[in-house]
Amino acid sequence: MSNPNNAVLKIDGKEIMLPIVTGTHGEMGLDISNLRNSTGLVTVDPSFMNTAACYSKITYIDGEKGILSYRGIPIQELVKKARFVETAYLLLHGKLPSRDQGSKFSQLLTRHSLLHEDMRHFFDNFPRGAHPMAIMSTMINALSTFYPNVDLLSLKEDIDTSATRLISIFRTMAAFAYKRSIGEPVVYPCPDLPYCANFLNMMFSSPVTQYELREETVRILNVLLILHADHEQNCSTTAVRTIGSAQVNLYASISAGISALSGPLHGGANQAVIDMLKKIEKDANIKKYIDRAKDKNNSFRLMGFGHRVYKTYDPRAAIIKKECHKFLRSTKISSPLLNVALELEKVALNDEYFIERKLYPNVDFYSGIIYSAIGIPENMFTVMFGLARLPGWIAHWKEMIGTQTKIARPRQIYVGKHVKEFSSR
Ligand code: ACO
Repeated sequence: MSNPNNAVLKIDGKEIMLPIVTGTHGEMGLDISNLRNSTGLVTVDPSFMNTAACYSKITYIDGEKGILSYRGIPIQELVKKARFVETAYLLLHGKLPSRDQGSKFSQLLTRHSLLHEDMRHFFDNFPRGAHPMAIMSTMINALSTFYPNVDLLSLKEDIDTSATRLISIFRTMAAFAYKRSIGEPVVYPCPDLPYCANFLNMMFSSPVTQYELREETVRILNVLLILHADHEQNCSTTAVRTIGSAQVNLYASISAGISALSGPLHGGANQAVIDMLKKIEKDANIKKYIDRAKDKNNSFRLMGFGHRVYKTYDPRAAIIKKECHKFLRSTKISSPLLNVALELEKVALNDEYFIERKLYPNVDFYSGIIYSAIGIPENMFTVMFGLARLPGWIAHWKEMIGTQTKIARPRQIYVGKHVKEFSSR
């Protein structure tokens, strides 16, 4: 008898039942975890286009409707009502913090904001032009040599200490890397400043100038960090979960996530967007770039456009676009690149190529314009993304450790040579 909770697969006259699983919002999946045991067959899905690698309670995306929520709360609500630090707590613990929990979490962030002084000297030995993402990935990996006791058991009991250390130290390291790149002395974290204000102060104050903290700037930074804080099983999160499944320490897993994020097809796109917009502005020829993006013989792609999951407007991009206008207006900063981006979006969204393929602006399309307006240099954009994504990575790592007991290990279909005898000729 057919069971609505099973799919039937017929192979060599034999019927195999495959359980159908259903998620919170009715999304369905075929559980093939026993397929190889019962048939000898594996499934083939390069780049995991069609594979749910885990069950997760952290983030929900509906890519057709453009919905994104963290722990059930829509991002639109979080942007209006929460700060980044509360969002980080929400991702890590599954619920928003009470007043007491929030203040303890903030205290831990302050307590762990200092980098071990011996690590500060590491910055002196990277080449001047080193990309900050490469520096960050190295430095975060090196944390395990200074804080070696992050074993799985201690983390299960006390994720807050390691999480706040990472979230806080990443911020300090990012600001130090920037200061080093411009040849200025580092500015230490200030215990009286909240998370985002503290970061801005470390980035832009110097022994001779006190950075003026503006409410709008602190607010917009909170908004950007909240919107980037998690995005379920993207490339970098998958890297964190996969590497973490080998039971390496948390820092090594996050370091791998940073490396994955640095790629131009992933988080590195925010920097690539600004490079592209500048070129378009200089050439004053949008059509040329649209034609190049459509040309199958040209590897150029419209950066900040398209998404593996969203087949409609990325809800993060919609918020960032609106906030970008608001921020530039309130701070009276003019950005010629915003006009280029708006025009480019208009042309692309009316072009059959982009319409057919459902290619819309993604989170990276407008974020760089705001970062530039804040004063953050382009090579730091992807570091900002990493700073924001940390709570998501850690939450996924924690969830994976709690639910996945086996090491991640895909199969393959071998298509190489048959066995041959050794011959030196
Ligand atoms: N410009 C031009 N064409 C594009 C673009 C683009 N930005 N994105 C996708 N396409 C085309 C592809 O050439 C392909 O065309 P085809 O069907 O004729 O071969 C079709 O749209 C489908 O694209 P895929 O590459 O199969 O989509 P995939 O899901 O693998 O890739 C990705 C998604 C990597 C984001 C892609 O859209 C892209 O390269 N975008 C530009 C880089 C970017 O903005 N990355 C940031 C993504 S968001 C994030 O990671 C934070």
